[in-house]
Amino acid sequence: MIVVRKDSPLVIGKGDGENFISSDIPAYLKLTRNFYLLKDNEFAVLTQNDIKFYDNDLNPLQKNITKIDWDATSAEKNGYEDFMLKEIYEQPTAIRETIGNHLIAGQVCQFDELNFSKEFLSSIQKIYIVACGTAMHAGLTAKTMLENICEINTEVDIASEFRYRNPLINKNTLCIFISQSGETADTIAALKLAKSKGATTLAITNVEGSSITREADFVSYTHAGPEIAVASTKAYTSQITLLAILVIYFAEILNKNSETLADLKKSILELPTKAEQLLNHIEDIPEFAKEFYQNKDVFFLGRGLDYNTAAEGSLKLKEISYIHSEAFYSGELKHGPIALIESGTLVISILTVPDLIEKSISNIQEVITRGAKTLVITDKNLEHTNFSKMIKIPETNPFLSPILSIIPLQLFAYSITKQKDLDVDKPRNLAKSVTVE
Ligand code: AGP
Repeated sequence: MIVVRKDSPLVIGKGDGENFISSDIPAYLKLTRNFYLLKDNEFAVLTQNDIKFYDNDLNPLQKNITKIDWDATSAEKNGYEDFMLKEIYEQPTAIRETIGNHLIAGQVCQFDELNFSKEFLSSIQKIYIVACGTAMHAGLTAKTMLENICEINTEVDIASEFRYRNPLINKNTLCIFISQSGETADTIAALKLAKSKGATTLAITNVEGSSITREADFVSYTHAGPEIAVASTKAYTSQITLLAILVIYFAEILNKNSETLADLKKSILELPTKAEQLLNHIEDIPEFAKEFYQNKDVFFLGRGLDYNTAAEGSLKLKEISYIHSEAFYSGELKHGPIALIESGTLVISILTVPDLIEKSISNIQEVITRGAKTLVITDKNLEHTNFSKMIKIPETNPFLSPILSIIPLQLFAYSITKQKDLDVDKPRNLAKSVTVE
């Protein structure tokens, strides 16, 4: 068999008396952990026992094997009904693995793969975070942290927009690209553009050896393990975890406020346990979902960081349940969206940002007055009891609350979809890796 890679990913698995080709690694983790990764325009000739590589001019190439340490059981359902459910419940482990050695109690944060100097970070005038879908939502939370903690001007861009909008970039720009798969065509094109304009590029990905890792100046990995379900769950919470540690790493190099950093570090180390506690206390969500699976619309509201959770919760619901859902900034409600509320409309609100709780509650009261049903996700002890349902999540450092507040919403989207008897892991019209524009 003769294969060539062109734009889309191509991975070759080396077996014993058998070899494999596929577009991603999880496809044959059961069969081998040894892979060869092809670059664009490289060829391979496979026989049962041999693999030969050639460049575009058919000159022979030597390639090293990439060994993947993901185990096969983590790419299997492991007793769960669906991959998505398994991946939701794997979040405590994924977060723990992602923290890894970057953050150890009482020590400064380490990113051996970056090794940034104070001189370099002080020269950065602007950071762009570029990604698609869920990965972009992780970037929104990182922006707030970078601006508030490191005081670096940060913008978040959707990759398919960034690549065509002629962004202002120079050698004092750092561009961070987030991609679970590392194969998203728009994100890779945006990275190439940023590089050609002189920016320093950093890729955050979950997949070793993926295309993005070969393009970026620097790479840092989340360690969520293989994510099979199209709807991203553990990759998202791992991305925010890694980005939070990255922000602390920058802040320590730049000598920023150490009190804030100390609390943030302590809170990150507590996240796996808190995610575990939360997962043990939300088993009534499927029952609540039963009431709403026939709804036509669901709206999500939030202010500040809670808006990021609203946006991600809305994406989760629509992509797998096919229910129309939208996220709004709570304060925008009266500028238009409130016209959509009618009797029985479900409005989901996230309330964790200190100082904004009272304002958001008054928005919720406005939709209740118009007949909406309400689900509230909060880490506070609220006395208002006219919500249809309230889910209490563990309290953490406010910058980290998006990591916990999304978990009930992932489970809600999953439960609604099961209720509708749809394929949770493979929703219609979607692919896990979007390798074409
Ligand atoms: C998430 O649930 C989606 N399926 C999708 O938005 C995804 O996050 C997006 O396509 C980006 O993928 P990537 O992280 O692999 O680049």
